[in-house]
Amino acid sequence: MASRPRPTVTYDAPPNIALVKYWGVRDEELRLPYNSSFSVTLDRLRSRTAVRFDPELREDEVELNGTAAVGGPRDGVVRFLDRVRELAGTSDHASVRSENNFPTASGLASSASGFAALAGAATRAAGLALSDRDLSRLARRGSGSASRSVFGGFVEWRAGVRPDGFDSYARSVYPARHWPSLVDLVLLVRGAPVKEVRSNDAMQATVRTSPDYRARLAEVPRRLRAIRAAVGARRADRLFSLVMEECDSFRLVCETTVPSLDYLTATSRAILAEVRELNRAAGRTLAGYTHDAGAHVHVFTLARDLAAVRRRLAGIEGVERTLVVRPGPGGRFVRATSGRAS
Ligand code: PMV
Repeated sequence: MASRPRPTVTYDAPPNIALVKYWGVRDEELRLPYNSSFSVTLDRLRSRTAVRFDPELREDEVELNGTAAVGGPRDGVVRFLDRVRELAGTSDHASVRSENNFPTASGLASSASGFAALAGAATRAAGLALSDRDLSRLARRGSGSASRSVFGGFVEWRAGVRPDGFDSYARSVYPARHWPSLVDLVLLVRGAPVKEVRSNDAMQATVRTSPDYRARLAEVPRRLRAIRAAVGARRADRLFSLVMEECDSFRLVCETTVPSLDYLTATSRAILAEVRELNRAAGRTLAGYTHDAGAHVHVFTLARDLAAVRRRLAGIEGVERTLVVRPGPGGRFVRATSGRAS
């Protein structure tokens, strides 16, 4: 029996920034991490993805930010669609259009928002109605950090222990409104190199070769608990110190990977140094930095200190743009329309 044409479903999902990083998987196929991670979902930024399954299509059509996707990015989407087809029991190909309202390929976590949005759009477009927990498990398969972008606010992705990954999903620990005065200044660094090694390959190289990885794994659970507690109590100074400690631990295992993974530019390093100096001069920890596998730097502070922190960082050579974001809501269904995506 020929399958019916289905609606175009549009779904939005935000990026998130990890306060405790996911780095290293015990199962590459299922993307099961060695350690649990913890993040803040960011407001204002989003990937918007529209998906339609169509029995007339001879292959999947994937458009990312207005351009037909090729190579690795296309393959990742097609593999993800294969999983959705398997779940929905269909062999129809799909048309996928996705766009970000923030600079892509900039290391700004577009894989997290992108795969969370794709999970939300593709499952509904295939006629499935998944719970957010199931969406998180599914999004995890596209990109680990995407499991967290399904939810808003402060989110924990529990590593889980089961070999089948059933217990490896994210959940919201505190909603975005828990701490609206927490601000994330995202400093976009000019000339940030495009990633040479995919994060999956990079993290597995760390697991294999960094002499510091075991020690990191041993200390992460304690730090995660402390970070969760600092967020719960809205203790900014404690949170910022712990977030910098975690970022330094992440950077150390990257740098001691063979060959070394160095994601920062001179500008990124100047920002880290300036935040340290700012805290030293203030005699308290009024800001905390973190970065992912990229050159851009996130600086957390409270709304009341924002102007002072911005002024301080404004003089740094090589910062192209600064975005001011806060904790925000998770992924959301936008619309379903019949026929083609416009
Ligand atoms: O989800 P991926 O495969 O893009 O890897 C994300 C890794 C980090 O961003 C460095 C850390 C994290 O937990 O988001």
